[in-house]
Amino acid sequence: MFTIPKIIILGIESSCDDTSAAVIENGIIRSNIIAGQKVHELYGGVVPELASRAHQQNIVPVVDQALKQAGIVPSELTAIAFTRGPGLLGSLLVGTSFAKGLSLSLNIPLIDINHLQGHVLAHYIKEHAHDDVKPQFPHLCLLVSGGNSQIILVHDYLKMEVIGQTIDDAAGEAFDKCAKVMGFPYPGGPLVDKLAKEGNPNAIVFSKPRIEGLNYSFSGLKTSFLYHLRDALKHNENYIEENKADLCASLQKTIIDILLGKLIRAAKETGIKEITIAGGVSANSGLREALRNEALKRGWNLFIPEFRYTTDNAAMIAITGYYKYLNSEFAGHDAVPFARMVI
Ligand code: KG4
Repeated sequence: MFTIPKIIILGIESSCDDTSAAVIENGIIRSNIIAGQKVHELYGGVVPELASRAHQQNIVPVVDQALKQAGIVPSELTAIAFTRGPGLLGSLLVGTSFAKGLSLSLNIPLIDINHLQGHVLAHYIKEHAHDDVKPQFPHLCLLVSGGNSQIILVHDYLKMEVIGQTIDDAAGEAFDKCAKVMGFPYPGGPLVDKLAKEGNPNAIVFSKPRIEGLNYSFSGLKTSFLYHLRDALKHNENYIEENKADLCASLQKTIIDILLGKLIRAAKETGIKEITIAGGVSANSGLREALRNEALKRGWNLFIPEFRYTTDNAAMIAITGYYKYLNSEFAGHDAVPFARMVI
């Protein structure tokens, strides 16, 4: 009798401040463990050296838990996929070195993964064997995170082309930096999202960039937000406290308008109606709703990821590893991490 071979991939993610390990068996998720790092809260942002040290402490228990939850022992693994970049070099080194050591000791292949490709392919993680409703190719992916804002033309699992990207700050940075000047803890995006629900999105008008083509810019918005606060605080020192909700709603609306403007243009120019969204900012409830409305209006087939696959996670690294394994794309043990890496 013919049996489908078991392909079991262990994914390891350590690009920023989350240590994560996941097991995927023939494209189906078996476990996805994520250990966050509270140590950065004191500093209003991620401190690279502290992140590397925390990864070192977390990696063994996180991988151990991922294997246990998947119900497998290390010798059952087919290959190990790890995030090679982009990210913080010291953090990436921990995951890369661990993955190399384990691959050598188990004598199984090593697969290097571009973190950004992982975000895009998170949509192909299956929860169970018959979970077949996945984005068709080609599709457009709006990848919005703390470090990136890109529109990606996804030709196939491993063939992607960036057709638009930010020329300065990322959308997540716009959320976080504006939140910081309001005195919110890092990362401010989720709190802006929460407060925006009680505010008026049309209360304040912030400037929007005029950038050619499909590229984005968010640094002007940050300046416009800062100047607005500076002027308003001259007249009322409690301005932020009294107008938090309206500030958040108006900021969020401006970011969403900027993101959707170029996405709509990309969809028109390419004629593609298969649309996906990925990255930390895709957790934003206002963005999700605005996308759903656009999809209805424009006949888009829209895919919004599960919350647990929006921020950094190893499941997306393992699924990308699965497709690279099927394509026989492996890394050598001399592979070094890259702080910068493009799709
Ligand atoms: O993809 P991600 O986890 O990692 C990095 O790029 O490092 O994205 C993190 C970003 C942060 O800027 C955070 O503020 C933002 O995603 N974010 C949100 C929300 N949840 C996370 N931004 C707006 N609304 C949210 N609900």
